[in-house]
Amino acid sequence: MLRLKHITLLSLFIFINGCGEKRKNIYEEIDFSTLPKSVISNGEKIYMRACFACHNTGREGATLLTETRQWNRTAKKGIEILYQNVLQGYTGMSGVMPPKGNCWDCTEDDIRQAILYIYHQVKLAKK
Ligand code: HEC
Repeated sequence: MLRLKHITLLSLFIFINGCGEKRKNIYEEIDFSTLPKSVISNGEKIYMRACFACHNTGREGATLLTETRQWNRTAKKGIEILYQNVLQGYTGMSGVMPPKGNCWDCTEDDIRQAILYIYHQVKLAKK
């Protein structure tokens, strides 16, 4: 299961990086309609465990999951920058996110999938 997830994600990112054009917006980089269910469900699990504490409450100035406009703004950074910002921690206009969103036992895939889960939810909410 884990290996399959890795391969799926890996091919996803190879595909993105292999594209000649510079696509940055995460909605253009990732086809959310064909993301494997396992990615979203693991992302949700990580989100509920680690990210929910701030992103569902606004704690520390975190953007609420429901603030789609703000997420659509950050979406333009593209997955790689968003990933680095969560991994290393990020200081925004309204607050500070600790490295890995405080999820110290999260793998790098966990972090990526939690990010994909967020933008997946935001995309659903937009419709
Ligand atoms: C301790 C609170 C806290 C936790 C826990 C947390 N975040 Fe954040 N997050 C923030 C804050 C604060 C910001 C910056 C808001 C701003 O000022 O723009 C942020 C911003 C972000 C951004 C946008 C970064 C950017 O470049 O604009 C993403 C993506 C994100 N968080 C994902 C996550 C994920 C995924 C998790 C769980 C693994 C998580 N966060 C856990 C507080 C938190």
